[in-house]
Amino acid sequence: MKSESSFTGQLGFILTAAGSAVGVGNLWRFPYLAAKDGGGLFLIVYLILALTFGYTLLSSDIAIGRRTQKSSILAYTEMNPKWKFLGVLTFLVPVIIMTYYAVIGGWITRYAAAFLGGEALKTADAHYFTDFISSPWIAAAFALLFMAVTAFIVYMGVESGIEKVSKFMMPILLIMVIGIAVFSLTLRHEDADGRIRTGLQGLLIYLTPDLTGLTVKRFLQILLDAMSQLFFSLSVSMGIMITYGSYVKKDVNLNHAVTMIEGFDTLVAFLAGIMIIPAVYVFQGTEGMGAGPSLMFISLPQVFASMGKAGAAVGAAFFIMTVFATLTSCISVLETIVANCMIIFRSGRKKTTLALTLVYLAASAVIALGYSVFYVEIKLPNGSVGQLLDLMDYISNSVMMPFIAFLSCILIGWIVKPLYVTEEMEYGGAVMRKKGLYSAMVKYAAPVLMLILFIQSTGILN
Ligand code: PFF
Repeated sequence: MKSESSFTGQLGFILTAAGSAVGVGNLWRFPYLAAKDGGGLFLIVYLILALTFGYTLLSSDIAIGRRTQKSSILAYTEMNPKWKFLGVLTFLVPVIIMTYYAVIGGWITRYAAAFLGGEALKTADAHYFTDFISSPWIAAAFALLFMAVTAFIVYMGVESGIEKVSKFMMPILLIMVIGIAVFSLTLRHEDADGRIRTGLQGLLIYLTPDLTGLTVKRFLQILLDAMSQLFFSLSVSMGIMITYGSYVKKDVNLNHAVTMIEGFDTLVAFLAGIMIIPAVYVFQGTEGMGAGPSLMFISLPQVFASMGKAGAAVGAAFFIMTVFATLTSCISVLETIVANCMIIFRSGRKKTTLALTLVYLAASAVIALGYSVFYVEIKLPNGSVGQLLDLMDYISNSVMMPFIAFLSCILIGWIVKPLYVTEEMEYGGAVMRKKGLYSAMVKYAAPVLMLILFIQSTGILN
Protein backbone atom coordinates (compact mmCIF):
# COMPACT_ATOMS: atom_id res chain seq x y z
CA MET A 1 0.00 0.00 0.00
CA LYS A 2 1.42 3.34 -1.06
CA SER A 3 1.32 6.14 1.50
CA GLU A 4 -1.41 8.62 0.74
CA SER A 5 0.01 11.65 2.48
CA SER A 6 2.59 13.95 0.96
CA PHE A 7 4.42 17.22 1.51
CA THR A 8 3.40 20.07 -0.77
CA GLY A 9 6.93 20.45 -2.10
CA GLN A 10 10.64 20.75 -1.42
CA LEU A 11 10.42 23.57 1.13
CA GLY A 12 7.71 21.87 3.15
CA PHE A 13 9.76 18.70 3.27
CA ILE A 14 13.00 20.44 4.24
CA LEU A 15 11.42 22.47 7.03
CA THR A 16 9.49 19.49 8.40
CA ALA A 17 12.52 17.19 8.36
CA ALA A 18 14.62 19.98 9.88
CA GLY A 19 11.87 20.32 12.48
CA SER A 20 12.42 16.73 13.48
CA ALA A 21 16.20 17.08 13.48
CA VAL A 22 16.37 20.32 15.42
CA GLY A 23 15.43 19.62 19.02
CA VAL A 24 16.78 19.63 22.53
CA GLY A 25 19.80 17.80 21.13
CA ASN A 26 20.84 20.94 19.24
CA LEU A 27 19.90 23.52 21.83
CA TRP A 28 21.20 21.83 24.91
CA ARG A 29 23.28 18.70 24.32
CA PHE A 30 25.48 20.07 21.53
CA PRO A 31 26.68 23.17 23.46
CA TYR A 32 27.31 21.07 26.54
CA LEU A 33 29.39 18.54 24.59
CA ALA A 34 31.34 21.28 22.80
CA ALA A 35 32.24 22.86 26.14
CA LYS A 36 33.25 19.50 27.59
CA ASP A 37 35.14 18.18 24.56
CA GLY A 38 37.65 20.90 23.80
CA GLY A 39 35.58 23.58 22.05
CA GLY A 40 36.82 23.98 18.48
CA LEU A 41 38.24 20.48 18.50
CA PHE A 42 34.75 19.05 18.98
CA LEU A 43 33.39 21.39 16.31
CA ILE A 44 35.90 20.19 13.73
CA VAL A 45 35.35 16.51 14.54
CA TYR A 46 31.59 16.99 14.42
CA LEU A 47 31.68 18.81 11.10
CA ILE A 48 33.82 16.15 9.44
CA LEU A 49 31.53 13.40 10.73
CA ALA A 50 28.44 15.31 9.60
CA LEU A 51 29.74 15.59 6.05
CA THR A 52 30.63 11.91 5.79
CA PHE A 53 28.84 9.73 8.24
CA GLY A 54 25.76 11.90 8.93
CA TYR A 55 25.35 12.45 5.21
CA THR A 56 25.39 8.69 4.64
CA LEU A 57 22.80 7.82 7.27
CA LEU A 58 20.45 10.66 6.37
CA SER A 59 20.61 9.97 2.62
CA SER A 60 19.95 6.27 3.25
CA ASP A 61 16.85 6.84 5.36
CA ILE A 62 15.30 9.45 3.09
CA ALA A 63 16.04 7.56 -0.13
CA ILE A 64 14.66 4.30 1.28
CA GLY A 65 11.49 6.13 2.30
CA ARG A 66 10.95 7.75 -1.05
CA ARG A 67 11.90 4.73 -3.11
CA THR A 68 9.59 2.36 -1.27
CA GLN A 69 6.94 5.01 -0.45
CA LYS A 70 6.50 3.16 2.81
CA SER A 71 7.27 3.43 6.51
CA SER A 72 9.94 1.35 8.21
CA ILE A 73 8.25 -2.04 8.67
CA LEU A 74 7.05 -2.36 5.08
CA ALA A 75 10.03 -0.48 3.65
CA TYR A 76 12.55 -2.99 4.98
CA THR A 77 10.27 -5.87 4.03
CA GLU A 78 10.19 -4.56 0.47
CA MET A 79 13.98 -4.20 0.38
CA ASN A 80 14.38 -7.80 1.43
CA PRO A 81 11.60 -9.92 2.99
CA LYS A 82 14.11 -11.66 5.25
CA TRP A 83 14.95 -8.30 6.80
CA LYS A 84 11.46 -7.49 7.98
CA PHE A 85 12.76 -7.85 11.54
CA LEU A 86 14.90 -4.76 11.00
CA GLY A 87 11.80 -2.79 10.03
CA VAL A 88 10.06 -3.95 13.19
CA LEU A 89 13.10 -3.11 15.32
CA THR A 90 13.31 0.34 13.76
CA PHE A 91 9.62 0.91 14.42
CA LEU A 92 10.15 0.12 18.10
CA VAL A 93 12.55 3.06 18.58
CA PRO A 94 9.92 5.82 18.25
CA VAL A 95 7.49 3.59 20.16
CA ILE A 96 9.88 3.79 23.12
CA ILE A 97 10.98 7.40 22.64
CA MET A 98 7.36 8.56 22.57
CA THR A 99 6.86 7.40 26.16
CA TYR A 100 9.19 10.12 27.47
CA TYR A 101 9.57 12.80 24.82
CA ALA A 102 6.40 14.64 25.83
CA VAL A 103 7.60 14.58 29.43
CA ILE A 104 10.69 16.58 28.49
CA GLY A 105 8.46 18.79 26.34
CA GLY A 106 6.31 19.34 29.43
CA TRP A 107 9.33 20.45 31.49
CA ILE A 108 10.26 23.00 28.85
CA THR A 109 6.67 24.23 28.56
CA ARG A 110 6.59 24.71 32.34
CA TYR A 111 9.64 26.98 32.11
CA ALA A 112 8.23 28.89 29.14
CA ALA A 113 5.02 29.43 31.13
CA ALA A 114 6.97 30.58 34.18
CA PHE A 115 8.95 33.13 32.17
CA LEU A 116 5.84 34.40 30.37
CA GLY A 117 3.91 34.54 33.67
CA GLY A 118 6.44 36.82 35.33
CA GLU A 119 7.99 34.10 37.49
CA ALA A 120 11.41 34.14 35.86
CA LEU A 121 13.29 34.73 39.10
CA LYS A 122 11.70 31.77 40.85
CA THR A 123 13.15 29.39 38.27
CA ALA A 124 16.66 30.47 39.25
CA ASP A 125 16.27 28.75 42.61
CA ALA A 126 18.49 25.64 42.63
CA HIS A 127 15.58 23.49 43.91
CA TYR A 128 12.97 24.74 41.47
CA PHE A 129 13.59 22.00 38.93
CA THR A 130 13.64 19.04 41.33
CA ASP A 131 10.63 20.40 43.22
CA PHE A 132 8.75 20.67 39.95
CA ILE A 133 9.50 17.24 38.50
CA SER A 134 8.84 15.53 41.82
CA SER A 135 5.44 17.14 42.33
CA PRO A 136 3.17 14.57 40.66
CA TRP A 137 0.25 16.74 39.58
CA ILE A 138 2.07 19.57 37.91
CA ALA A 139 4.70 17.40 36.24
CA ALA A 140 2.05 15.04 34.84
CA ALA A 141 -0.23 17.91 33.77
CA PHE A 142 2.47 19.56 31.65
CA ALA A 143 3.47 16.23 30.07
CA LEU A 144 -0.17 15.52 29.17
CA LEU A 145 -0.62 19.01 27.76
CA PHE A 146 2.42 18.61 25.54
CA MET A 147 1.29 15.17 24.43
CA ALA A 148 -2.20 16.44 23.60
CA VAL A 149 -0.90 19.32 21.47
CA THR A 150 1.41 16.95 19.58
CA ALA A 151 -1.46 14.52 19.00
CA PHE A 152 -3.75 17.27 17.73
CA ILE A 153 -1.23 18.37 15.08
CA VAL A 154 -0.63 14.79 13.91
CA TYR A 155 -4.40 14.24 13.84
CA MET A 156 -4.70 17.14 11.40
CA GLY A 157 -2.53 15.26 8.91
CA VAL A 158 0.75 15.74 7.07
CA GLU A 159 -0.12 18.68 4.88
CA SER A 160 -2.56 20.62 7.03
CA GLY A 161 -1.03 19.76 10.39
CA ILE A 162 2.63 18.79 10.46
CA GLU A 163 3.93 20.72 7.48
CA LYS A 164 2.00 23.88 8.35
CA VAL A 165 3.29 23.93 11.91
CA SER A 166 6.89 23.35 10.78
CA LYS A 167 6.71 26.08 8.14
CA PHE A 168 5.55 28.47 10.83
CA MET A 169 7.86 27.44 13.68
CA MET A 170 11.18 26.69 12.04
CA PRO A 171 11.86 30.14 10.51
CA ILE A 172 10.89 31.80 13.82
CA LEU A 173 13.21 29.44 15.67
CA LEU A 174 16.09 30.33 13.37
CA ILE A 175 15.55 34.07 13.85
CA MET A 176 15.32 33.67 17.62
CA VAL A 177 18.48 31.62 17.93
CA ILE A 178 20.40 34.17 15.83
CA GLY A 179 19.00 37.04 17.93
CA ILE A 180 19.88 35.50 21.28
CA ALA A 181 23.32 34.43 20.02
CA VAL A 182 24.13 38.02 19.03
CA PHE A 183 22.86 39.27 22.38
CA SER A 184 25.04 36.73 24.19
CA LEU A 185 28.14 38.12 22.53
CA THR A 186 27.43 41.61 23.92
CA LEU A 187 27.30 40.42 27.55
CA ARG A 188 29.82 41.54 30.14
CA HIS A 189 30.01 40.92 33.87
CA GLU A 190 32.27 41.94 36.74
CA ASP A 191 32.77 39.45 39.58
CA ALA A 192 32.82 40.49 43.24
CA ASP A 193 36.62 40.27 43.11
CA GLY A 194 36.77 42.64 40.13
CA ARG A 195 37.38 40.09 37.37
CA ILE A 196 35.65 40.97 34.15
CA ARG A 197 34.37 38.32 31.72
CA THR A 198 32.90 39.15 28.32
CA GLY A 199 30.79 37.35 25.75
CA LEU A 200 33.59 37.55 23.19
CA GLN A 201 35.96 35.75 25.54
CA GLY A 202 33.29 33.08 25.89
CA LEU A 203 33.06 32.84 22.11
CA LEU A 204 36.81 32.24 21.91
CA ILE A 205 36.52 29.40 24.41
CA TYR A 206 33.83 27.86 22.22
CA LEU A 207 35.72 28.20 18.94
CA THR A 208 39.34 27.58 19.93
CA PRO A 209 40.45 23.96 19.74
CA ASP A 210 41.66 23.09 23.23
CA LEU A 211 44.40 20.50 22.89
CA THR A 212 45.67 20.52 26.47
CA GLY A 213 46.05 17.03 27.86
CA LEU A 214 44.87 15.46 24.62
CA THR A 215 45.58 11.74 24.52
CA VAL A 216 44.50 9.08 22.05
CA LYS A 217 41.94 7.85 24.56
CA ARG A 218 40.48 11.31 25.06
CA PHE A 219 40.35 11.90 21.32
CA LEU A 220 38.44 8.65 20.88
CA GLN A 221 36.00 9.75 23.54
CA ILE A 222 35.44 13.03 21.70
CA LEU A 223 34.93 11.13 18.47
CA LEU A 224 32.32 8.88 20.05
CA ASP A 225 30.55 11.81 21.71
CA ALA A 226 30.38 13.61 18.37
CA MET A 227 29.13 10.50 16.62
CA SER A 228 26.33 9.69 19.04
CA GLN A 229 25.32 13.35 19.08
CA LEU A 230 25.17 13.47 15.28
CA PHE A 231 23.01 10.46 15.04
CA PHE A 232 20.54 11.61 17.68
CA SER A 233 20.55 15.09 16.20
CA LEU A 234 19.68 14.00 12.67
CA SER A 235 16.84 11.73 13.86
CA VAL A 236 18.27 8.87 11.78
CA SER A 237 17.98 5.11 12.37
CA MET A 238 14.60 5.35 14.04
CA GLY A 239 12.40 5.25 10.98
CA ILE A 240 11.46 8.93 11.21
CA MET A 241 13.33 10.02 8.11
CA ILE A 242 12.07 6.93 6.27
CA THR A 243 8.48 7.94 7.02
CA TYR A 244 9.12 11.58 6.05
CA GLY A 245 10.97 10.39 2.95
CA SER A 246 7.93 8.39 1.93
CA TYR A 247 5.91 11.63 1.77
CA VAL A 248 8.31 13.32 -0.66
CA LYS A 249 7.20 13.73 -4.25
CA LYS A 250 9.34 12.33 -7.02
CA ASP A 251 10.22 15.73 -8.48
CA VAL A 252 12.10 16.84 -5.35
CA ASN A 253 15.90 16.69 -5.64
CA LEU A 254 16.90 14.63 -2.61
CA ASN A 255 20.54 15.78 -2.78
CA HIS A 256 19.56 19.40 -2.25
CA ALA A 257 17.13 18.38 0.46
CA VAL A 258 19.72 16.33 2.40
CA THR A 259 22.21 19.21 2.24
CA MET A 260 19.63 21.71 3.44
CA ILE A 261 18.35 19.53 6.29
CA GLU A 262 21.85 18.75 7.52
CA GLY A 263 22.87 22.38 7.08
CA PHE A 264 19.88 23.62 9.07
CA ASP A 265 20.51 21.12 11.85
CA THR A 266 24.22 21.89 12.11
CA LEU A 267 23.70 25.64 11.88
CA VAL A 268 21.20 25.68 14.73
CA ALA A 269 23.48 23.50 16.88
CA PHE A 270 26.43 25.80 16.17
CA LEU A 271 24.39 28.93 16.93
CA ALA A 272 23.06 27.35 20.12
CA GLY A 273 26.69 27.11 21.24
CA ILE A 274 27.21 30.82 20.53
CA MET A 275 24.02 31.53 22.45
CA ILE A 276 24.75 29.41 25.52
CA ILE A 277 28.51 29.10 26.06
CA PRO A 278 29.34 32.84 26.21
CA ALA A 279 26.29 33.56 28.40
CA VAL A 280 27.12 30.83 30.90
CA TYR A 281 30.80 31.76 30.83
CA VAL A 282 30.14 35.44 31.52
CA PHE A 283 28.00 34.84 34.61
CA GLN A 284 29.24 31.53 35.95
CA GLY A 285 32.67 30.93 34.47
CA THR A 286 33.41 27.55 32.94
CA GLU A 287 31.85 25.69 35.89
CA GLY A 288 28.28 26.44 34.79
CA MET A 289 28.30 24.02 31.86
CA GLY A 290 27.02 21.09 33.93
CA ALA A 291 25.94 17.86 32.32
CA GLY A 292 22.38 16.66 31.78
CA PRO A 293 19.25 18.63 32.62
CA SER A 294 21.11 20.91 35.03
CA LEU A 295 22.45 23.08 32.19
CA MET A 296 19.05 23.81 30.68
CA PHE A 297 16.92 23.85 33.82
CA ILE A 298 19.26 25.16 36.51
CA SER A 299 22.29 27.00 35.07
CA LEU A 300 20.47 28.84 32.29
CA PRO A 301 17.65 30.20 34.50
CA GLN A 302 20.36 31.48 36.85
CA VAL A 303 22.14 33.09 33.93
CA PHE A 304 18.89 34.77 32.84
CA ALA A 305 18.36 36.00 36.40
CA SER A 306 21.84 37.56 36.39
CA MET A 307 21.02 39.52 33.23
CA GLY A 308 18.65 41.78 35.15
CA LYS A 309 15.60 43.14 33.33
CA ALA A 310 16.60 41.77 29.91
CA GLY A 311 16.85 38.28 31.41
CA ALA A 312 13.11 37.69 31.68
CA ALA A 313 12.57 38.55 28.00
CA VAL A 314 15.60 36.63 26.75
CA GLY A 315 14.65 33.65 28.90
CA ALA A 316 11.08 33.71 27.61
CA ALA A 317 12.35 33.82 24.02
CA PHE A 318 14.74 30.98 24.75
CA PHE A 319 12.13 28.68 26.24
CA ILE A 320 9.51 29.47 23.59
CA MET A 321 12.07 28.61 20.94
CA THR A 322 12.89 25.39 22.76
CA VAL A 323 9.19 24.50 22.95
CA PHE A 324 9.01 24.91 19.14
CA ALA A 325 12.08 22.75 18.62
CA THR A 326 10.81 20.02 20.93
CA LEU A 327 7.28 20.08 19.56
CA THR A 328 8.34 19.60 15.92
CA SER A 329 10.58 16.71 17.01
CA CYS A 330 7.85 15.13 19.12
CA ILE A 331 5.45 15.37 16.17
CA SER A 332 7.87 13.41 14.00
CA VAL A 333 8.06 10.64 16.57
CA LEU A 334 4.29 10.27 16.85
CA GLU A 335 3.77 10.57 13.09
CA THR A 336 6.17 7.69 12.51
CA ILE A 337 4.28 5.48 14.93
CA VAL A 338 0.95 6.48 13.40
CA ALA A 339 2.17 5.76 9.86
CA ASN A 340 3.31 2.26 10.80
CA CYS A 341 0.21 1.49 12.87
CA MET A 342 -2.09 2.56 10.03
CA ILE A 343 -0.58 -0.32 8.06
CA ILE A 344 -0.44 -2.85 10.89
CA PHE A 345 -4.05 -2.30 11.90
CA ARG A 346 -5.35 -1.25 8.47
CA SER A 347 -6.97 1.79 10.05
CA GLY A 348 -7.33 5.42 9.03
CA ARG A 349 -5.21 8.33 10.31
CA LYS A 350 -7.80 9.81 12.66
CA LYS A 351 -8.74 6.57 14.38
CA THR A 352 -5.12 5.47 14.67
CA THR A 353 -4.02 8.81 16.09
CA LEU A 354 -6.83 8.81 18.63
CA ALA A 355 -6.02 5.31 19.86
CA LEU A 356 -2.29 6.06 20.09
CA THR A 357 -3.02 9.30 21.90
CA LEU A 358 -4.78 7.41 24.66
CA VAL A 359 -1.89 4.98 24.96
CA TYR A 360 0.71 7.72 25.11
CA LEU A 361 -1.20 9.97 27.45
CA ALA A 362 -1.08 7.08 29.89
CA ALA A 363 2.58 6.31 29.16
CA SER A 364 3.63 9.97 29.49
CA ALA A 365 1.86 10.20 32.83
CA VAL A 366 3.68 7.11 34.12
CA ILE A 367 7.09 8.40 33.03
CA ALA A 368 6.35 11.89 34.39
CA LEU A 369 5.48 10.28 37.73
CA GLY A 370 8.82 8.48 37.64
CA TYR A 371 10.23 11.25 39.83
CA SER A 372 7.52 10.96 42.47
CA VAL A 373 4.92 8.17 42.72
CA PHE A 374 6.87 5.70 40.59
CA TYR A 375 10.33 6.72 41.70
CA VAL A 376 12.94 4.02 41.11
CA GLU A 377 16.71 3.90 40.95
CA ILE A 378 17.78 1.69 38.09
CA LYS A 379 21.40 0.80 37.56
CA LEU A 380 22.14 0.84 33.83
CA PRO A 381 24.84 -1.27 32.17
CA ASN A 382 26.79 1.89 31.24
CA GLY A 383 27.33 2.57 34.93
CA SER A 384 24.82 5.37 35.44
CA VAL A 385 21.83 5.23 37.76
CA GLY A 386 18.56 6.63 36.47
CA GLN A 387 14.79 6.87 36.70
CA LEU A 388 12.19 5.49 34.27
CA LEU A 389 12.91 8.22 31.72
CA ASP A 390 16.62 7.43 31.69
CA LEU A 391 15.88 3.74 31.22
CA MET A 392 13.74 4.42 28.13
CA ASP A 393 16.37 6.80 26.80
CA TYR A 394 19.13 4.25 27.35
CA ILE A 395 17.27 1.45 25.55
CA SER A 396 16.32 3.56 22.54
CA ASN A 397 19.36 5.80 22.07
CA SER A 398 22.29 3.86 23.46
CA VAL A 399 21.29 0.30 22.60
CA MET A 400 18.84 0.24 19.70
CA MET A 401 19.87 3.13 17.48
CA PRO A 402 23.54 2.19 16.91
CA PHE A 403 22.54 -1.44 16.50
CA ILE A 404 19.90 -0.57 13.89
CA ALA A 405 22.29 1.74 12.05
CA PHE A 406 24.84 -1.07 11.96
CA LEU A 407 22.35 -3.58 10.56
CA SER A 408 20.92 -1.20 8.02
CA CYS A 409 24.41 -0.39 6.71
CA ILE A 410 25.00 -4.13 6.29
CA LEU A 411 21.69 -4.48 4.47
CA ILE A 412 22.33 -1.54 2.13
CA GLY A 413 26.05 -2.07 1.69
CA TRP A 414 26.14 -5.83 1.17
CA ILE A 415 22.69 -7.24 0.47
CA VAL A 416 20.62 -4.83 -1.60
CA LYS A 417 23.80 -2.86 -2.54
CA PRO A 418 24.36 0.93 -2.39
CA LEU A 419 22.87 1.35 -5.85
CA TYR A 420 19.45 0.95 -4.22
CA VAL A 421 19.98 4.29 -2.50
CA THR A 422 22.11 6.10 -5.08
CA GLU A 423 19.64 5.38 -7.88
CA GLU A 424 16.90 7.04 -5.86
CA MET A 425 19.14 10.00 -5.03
CA GLU A 426 19.74 10.42 -8.79
CA TYR A 427 16.14 9.94 -9.81
CA GLY A 428 15.03 12.14 -12.70
CA GLY A 429 18.57 13.25 -13.57
CA ALA A 430 19.58 14.65 -10.16
CA VAL A 431 23.31 14.46 -9.46
CA MET A 432 24.67 12.75 -6.36
CA ARG A 433 28.13 14.27 -6.10
CA LYS A 434 29.34 12.22 -3.15
CA LYS A 435 28.28 8.86 -4.60
CA GLY A 436 31.70 7.22 -4.19
CA LEU A 437 31.99 8.47 -0.65
CA TYR A 438 28.50 7.21 0.10
CA SER A 439 29.23 3.67 -1.07
CA ALA A 440 32.51 3.45 0.82
CA MET A 441 30.92 4.82 3.99
CA VAL A 442 27.89 2.55 3.94
CA LYS A 443 29.91 -0.58 3.19
CA TYR A 444 32.98 -0.16 5.35
CA ALA A 445 33.37 2.87 7.59
CA ALA A 446 29.83 3.26 8.95
CA PRO A 447 29.30 -0.36 10.09
CA VAL A 448 32.66 -0.39 11.89
CA LEU A 449 32.01 2.95 13.57
CA MET A 450 28.51 1.89 14.54
CA LEU A 451 29.71 -1.30 16.12
CA ILE A 452 32.29 0.60 18.18
CA LEU A 453 29.66 3.13 19.20
CA PHE A 454 27.28 0.33 20.18
CA ILE A 455 29.90 -1.34 22.38
CA GLN A 456 30.89 1.95 23.98
CA SER A 457 27.45 3.46 24.58
CA THR A 458 25.87 0.31 25.96
CA GLY A 459 28.84 -0.23 28.24
CA ILE A 460 28.41 -3.99 27.77
CA LEU A 461 32.15 -4.63 27.88
CA ASN A 462 32.65 -2.72 31.13
N1 PFF B 1 16.77 15.12 16.62
C1 PFF B 1 16.28 15.59 17.86
C2 PFF B 1 17.26 16.48 18.56
O1 PFF B 1 18.39 16.64 18.10
O2 PFF B 1 16.93 17.00 19.59
C3 PFF B 1 15.99 14.54 18.83
C4 PFF B 1 15.08 13.48 18.47
C5 PFF B 1 13.94 13.71 17.77
C6 PFF B 1 15.37 12.25 18.89
C7 PFF B 1 13.12 12.72 17.50
C8 PFF B 1 14.57 11.27 18.65
C9 PFF B 1 13.44 11.50 17.94
F1 PFF B 1 12.66 10.49 17.70
